Amino acid sequence: MTEALYGAGGFYLRPEGPAAHFRTSAHTGSVYAATVAELLGRVDLAIGHPAQLDLVDVGAGRGELLHAVADLAAQGLPFAARLRLTGVEVAPRPRGLPARIGWADEIPPVTGLLLANEWLDVVPVDVVELTTDGPRLVLVDATGRESLGGPPTAADLAWLTQWWPLPLVGQRAEIGSTRDAAWANAVSRVRRGLAVAVDYGHTAEKRPPYGSLVGYRAGAVVPPIPDGSCDLTAHVALDSCLAAAGILSTQRDVLAELGVSAAHPPRELAARDPAAYLAALRSAGEATELLDPGGLGGFGWLLHGVGMAVPLCPPERLGSDRPEPM
Ligand SMILES: C[S@@+](CC[C@H](N)C(=O)[O-])C[C@H]1O[C@@H](n2cnc3c(N)ncnc32)[C@H](O)[C@@H]1O
Repeated sequence: MTEALYGAGGFYLRPEGPAAHFRTSAHTGSVYAATVAELLGRVDLAIGHPAQLDLVDVGAGRGELLHAVADLAAQGLPFAARLRLTGVEVAPRPRGLPARIGWADEIPPVTGLLLANEWLDVVPVDVVELTTDGPRLVLVDATGRESLGGPPTAADLAWLTQWWPLPLVGQRAEIGSTRDAAWANAVSRVRRGLAVAVDYGHTAEKRPPYGSLVGYRAGAVVPPIPDGSCDLTAHVALDSCLAAAGILSTQRDVLAELGVSAAHPPRELAARDPAAYLAALRSAGEATELLDPGGLGGFGWLLHGVGMAVPLCPPERLGSDRPEPM
C-alpha cells in the first residue's frame, strides 16, 4: 500500500492529483473553506491572537482548501495579516499555488489549527484474515492475486484484540495502529491550538466484518489492486485514534455548530438581488452536500485542543455519545 500510493510511480504522485479521482469536502466549494476559517477564528480567540496564526493542512492534496482560504483572507479575514498557510504533502508543491501558501513534507510546529481532511484513511494499513490458525496477514501482488502470509506482530495482535476482534473464520480486519500513530504524531506537533482529523470511519459497535479496503479511480470504486493506478483506502477505526487524544463528533454536528445551514434563501431575494440569491442558492447546495448524513455529513471529526478547549458549544454535546460516524 505504501509503495503503491507513495513510492515511485505511486498513485498520489500522479500529475492529475486526487481531485480527478474522488470528491472530498475540500472540493465542494467555498462554504467548507469559510467554515474552516470560522473554526480558525475561534482557535485564534482561544489562544489569545498569536503573532503568527497557523493553518496547517496535513495531506493537502493539491492545496485546494488552502487556496480557498487564501482567497477568503484576501477578501478580508480579521486575522489575515497574521495567517500562515502551510500544506503538508508527499506530492510536490503544485504549480500555480499562490506564493503565500507554504508547502512541506513534514508537519511543522503548529500554533493555530492543524486540519487533516481525509488523510488518515490513506495512511497504509495491513489487512488480516482470521483462519483456523488465528489471524494471518493478507498478501497481494500488483495483479491483485491474494495469498495468506504469517501472523501479525505481537503489537498488532494486541491492537486487534483490543479494537477489532474477529469472531468468524474468513472475516477480515484492517490494523489501525498506523492511523493511531499518525493522529498522535499530528497532535504532538500542535504547540497551542486545535488538531482536527476528518474522515470516514467506524467504531467498535459497527466494524465492517470483511474490512473496508477499496480502490478509487476516476470517480469509480475499483478493486484495491496495489499497482499505482488507483487510490487504496480503508475506513478509519476512529475510536482507537480517539484513545490517543480528542473527542469524536460528526461533520454534520460540527458544521451545524459552526453555522453551516442548507436553508434556501428567501424567494423575495431573487427579485431584489438576483446575484445574491444565486450565490446563496449555491451555498445552500454546498451545505446540503457537506451536511448529508449518508455522505460527507456522516464523516467523523476527531478534535483535540492543546492549551485550549475544543471551541464548540458545548463540546460534550458533540462528544462520543453522538451518533455513529459512517
Ligand atoms: C485522500 S487525499 C485528501 C486530500 C485533501 N486533504 C482533500 O481532502 O481533498 C490524501 C492526501 O494525503 C497525502 N498524504 C498521505 N500521507 C501523507 C503523509 N504522510 N504526509 C503528507 N501527505 C500525505 C496524499 O498524498 C494525498 O494527497
